[in-house]
Amino acid sequence: MAFKILSVVGARPNFIKVAAICEAIKEHNGRSNGQQIEHVLVHTGQHYDANMSDFFFNDLELPKPNLFLGVGSGSHSAQTAKVMEGFENVLLAEKPNVVIVVGDVNSTVACALVTKKTCCSGGVDGKDFIPRLAHVEAGLRSFDRTMPEEVNRIVTDAISDYLFTTEESANLNLGREGVSSDKVHFVGNVMIDTLLRHRSKAKESTILNDLQLFENTQIKPYAILTLHRPANVDDARTFSKMVESFAAVSQHMPIIFPAHPRTLKQIQEADLGDHFVDHCTNGPEPWDSRVRIRLVPPLGYLDFLQLMSHAKVVLTDSGGVQEETTILGVPCITLRETTERPVTLKPGTNILVGADPQKIIREFSRILQGERRP
Ligand code: UD1
Ligand code: UDP
Repeated sequence: MAFKILSVVGARPNFIKVAAICEAIKEHNGRSNGQQIEHVLVHTGQHYDANMSDFFFNDLELPKPNLFLGVGSGSHSAQTAKVMEGFENVLLAEKPNVVIVVGDVNSTVACALVTKKTCCSGGVDGKDFIPRLAHVEAGLRSFDRTMPEEVNRIVTDAISDYLFTTEESANLNLGREGVSSDKVHFVGNVMIDTLLRHRSKAKESTILNDLQLFENTQIKPYAILTLHRPANVDDARTFSKMVESFAAVSQHMPIIFPAHPRTLKQIQEADLGDHFVDHCTNGPEPWDSRVRIRLVPPLGYLDFLQLMSHAKVVLTDSGGVQEETTILGVPCITLRETTERPVTLKPGTNILVGADPQKIIREFSRILQGERRP
């Protein structure tokens, strides 16, 4: 009988992390004469736009999910509850030995809770059993409980049977919280495994051409911006002040801004559209005209990886992008006061500036003047 693992994906960063797990299971099954792993992939549907979900299945050659819960958007409680209801039925039917959840999104905590509260019938010896729970990217802490992700991390870790960690700080955090060290496995970073695996394929992306970032054969200097944390975009005043600092940065080099759907909604609601050139409707402005922030839809993984690899600087509030820029050696200005990934601060590529416009501009100037080289 195969050993059954069920992995959960829901939101954009999950697809990238689970891609490495799918590869590892495929490799195990290819080389092992012993017990095979039956892998079931469940997509909760937390993210559902093609450019927040389907693109990643294509780019990363992920298997089609075996089950799709179609929960969609909602308040934290409504979304979490919908995932929990849907996932309970999945668990009762699938009876996996182990459930793998990754990262810190609402789908992660919802499926973790259900796993540890569901008794499946007919285990190995005919007995009822509760599946074991594995959390990949365990132990990360921003120590800011106003972040919904921090609550998701703490709850998920507290009930997991296997805690797979990506950096030393996570091991220390779990130790401090009383997690027994035999549950903790320091395995490295699946998001980076996926990056390294796809780096050469990303070079085939036409994104630099599409965004007219070539001059003759040279790549022009440009910055990338990604922004989606509620603390930055949900309050119109904070967001518009940040946008002013991005406008200042864009006087030095264009900013390519693949806008998350939450952020796009806020741009419309806060009436901030004048600060941006919409690349899709207007096309890029001629290169020598007023430099602006170029709004593009969320990009597929390979396009974004290629774009990130050649950027002069990345401005972001993403968790994953802080790690990816560290590996790529690209300077990263993190638009947050805290990071749950302190390992990214050590090599000097990443710096925390929060939402303060002065700090954002100051840090950008230092990078422009070559003061801060990785
Ligand atoms: C979620 C995660 C966050 C993660 C981010 C990755 C939680 C609590 N937050 O934030 O940790 O960094 O995903 O991108 O789980 N929307 C669409 N289309 C979509 C998805 C969302 O239009 O495919 C819009 C909806 O208006 C929705 C809003 O974006 O209300 C926010 O989506 P949601 O999944 O609730 O949170 P994110 O901000 O995406
Ligand atoms: N990403 C992408 N296209 C984009 C923006 C981000 O492929 O337009 C990738 C990025 O390379 C990283 C992941 O999405 O692998 C990060 O996801 P996100 O920032 O949404 O979530 P977080 O990491 O903050 O939870």
